[in-house]
Amino acid sequence: MSYFDALGFAREPFPNAPDPDLLYRSPNHLECLRHMEIAVRLRRGLNVVLGEVGTGKSTLCRELRRLLAEDRNLETHLLDDPYFEDPADFLAAVAGLFGLDAEAMRGDQARLRGAIKAFLARQAADERHIVTLLVDEGQKITGACLELLRELLNFESTSHKLLQIVIFAQTEFEEMLAARPNLEDRVNFSLRAAAADPPPDPAHGGRASRPVRPGRHGAAAPVHPAGPAPHLPPDRRLSAQDRAPVPCGHAAGCGP
Ligand SMILES: Nc1ncnc2c1ncn2[C@@H]1O[C@H](COP(=O)(O)OP(=O)(O)OP(=O)(O)O)[C@@H](O)[C@H]1O
Ligand SMILES: [Mg+2]
Repeated sequence: MSYFDALGFAREPFPNAPDPDLLYRSPNHLECLRHMEIAVRLRRGLNVVLGEVGTGKSTLCRELRRLLAEDRNLETHLLDDPYFEDPADFLAAVAGLFGLDAEAMRGDQARLRGAIKAFLARQAADERHIVTLLVDEGQKITGACLELLRELLNFESTSHKLLQIVIFAQTEFEEMLAARPNLEDRVNFSLRAAAADPPPDPAHGGRASRPVRPGRHGAAAPVHPAGPAPHLPPDRRLSAQDRAPVPCGHAAGCGP
């Protein structure tokens, strides 16, 4: 008998990899998801989710990818480890995600950039089609690669950016952005992910039933709102599942 069976678990409750099935949908996490989905759909370009270590950014990122994948018009790619010392390798990784023959262009930044631009232009021929690049561990991106991301954001049609980018990063990324005003200027929306406060437990007189690790929770706070958050179109409002409380005995720093 496995220890899952012995403990009555259907699956590993504490996986090492971020598992969107286990995302505790705190108001803050839902807010992040909603803003990022809207920003992608409105093709606003660059968006950033910042958060302290372990606040659920990677889990949220995987959930956003899953959410976007439900729509056939949305093509979403995930760069989960964006650290590349050589900027050409960074471009090659992005080109590879887009299904381009990056190997044939390896080391040739100009060709890679050109191929990515041509790819995005092709995809944009269908006006409903939206290409999104999700980047996790954004604080690992080198300065040279940030500059490349800025260049990718320059690819645009008369009405919108050809590539949507959502970066999930630890809070030091805010300083990296501040040091690059020409990139910071392009951030459409920046949100702070925070570990969830536990919901009140009636059995404890309405108090939280489990302590939350100090310094790992906080309110949903737009850091760089570029304007009022647009409303979701009626068909994209949060589903009943989104609103339903999900038990969260597994989340580090976050109550049930
Ligand atoms: N909202 C949440 N729902 C479910 N699990 C969570 C949540 N927040 C944190 N966790 C759990 O905490 C751990 C860290 O989560 P995750 O890797 O998503 O955080 P992170 O912010 O990406 O961390 P890092 O800054 O180290 O990259 C995981 O085991 C994850 O299951
Ligand atoms: Mg992470």
